[in-house]
Amino acid sequence: MIQELIHKLAQSHSLSLEEYERLITERDEESARLLKRLAVQERVRIYGHDVYVRGLIEISNICKNDCYYCGIRCSNTNCERYRLTPEQIISCADEGYDLGFRTFVLQGGEDSYFTDEILGRIIREIKQNHSDCAITLSLGERTRESYAYLREAGADRYLLRHETADKTHYSQLHPSSMSFENRMKCLQILRELGYQVGAGFMVGSPFQTSKTLAEDLKFIETFKPEMCGIGPFIPHKDTPFRDCGSGTLELTCYLLSVIRLIYPPVLLPATTALGTIHPTGRELGILSGANVVMPNLSPVNVRKKYELYDNKICTGEESAQCRGCLERRMNSIGYKIVTSRGDIIK
Ligand code: 5AD
Ligand code: FES
Repeated sequence: MIQELIHKLAQSHSLSLEEYERLITERDEESARLLKRLAVQERVRIYGHDVYVRGLIEISNICKNDCYYCGIRCSNTNCERYRLTPEQIISCADEGYDLGFRTFVLQGGEDSYFTDEILGRIIREIKQNHSDCAITLSLGERTRESYAYLREAGADRYLLRHETADKTHYSQLHPSSMSFENRMKCLQILRELGYQVGAGFMVGSPFQTSKTLAEDLKFIETFKPEMCGIGPFIPHKDTPFRDCGSGTLELTCYLLSVIRLIYPPVLLPATTALGTIHPTGRELGILSGANVVMPNLSPVNVRKKYELYDNKICTGEESAQCRGCLERRMNSIGYKIVTSRGDIIK
């Protein structure tokens, strides 16, 4: 019985691979309701009805990689490239601080312009201006030396989705120049260096199966990332996966609940991608056990260019509007955005 599996997960925070697979294949409306209820119970026990916010600054859409799913892949010649200057990045953070953000996420493609030295300067300056803030980096794979340098400069957290915990699946989503082993190695190094680490994956990515998803869940169970970013895959018109279908709201919300029960303290965002496939996707994500949202702080004139997938939301709004919009959305479901760094409560 799947109900028994759900109770077992809620109690022991662990299932076998086969059981995780059954949790996915045998789900129905009734079991999803039970799962959601238990996940929200854990979420409220640890975080109450607080929602943490992260100010997302998309620093560059220039990328040396060619991931098959991603709109800013290097072989997409239709993508208009941009890169923010250090001054622009710092002023986005200043604006964000005044709007109540205490975490800034610097996200971008793997752009060689952003050397350790340049990033170090940016990190140190933001930290100097706002000593009560956390800095999160989301800049892909770098060397151990680089991660160590950036940590030393003041970076607190690093987001690097593992994308899939199945090696064969990994090779179906990425060209052979990228390796599953290096991805996992990077996550390990980040952990060793004392970062709070974010892993994660897309829901409904091409070639994903209940078996690869079970492997993702087992990986989350064993690695216990402080953060876990999951959102639906959404096709981008200029990628090899243009004709593939999107991931669903239903399965994404179901997996948000599962992950909350696997590792109750995890910081779990209701992602922009979830808000893109459904008008109230982020609200439904929070109501499934998520506890983080990430409004956009990038300058409005570059937002449309940071298009990882088609029809991305929040690309026309000013930072203050985006923040206000999410505040209202969270209030409408009985949750509230809080002004704090929003560290994990272990
Ligand atoms: N649909 C949904 N998510 C995507 N990402 C990249 N491309 C897409 C897409 N087409 C996700 C990846 C990456 C994160 C920054 O965005 O998981 O790690
Ligand atoms: Fe960005 Fe609504 S959250 S505009």
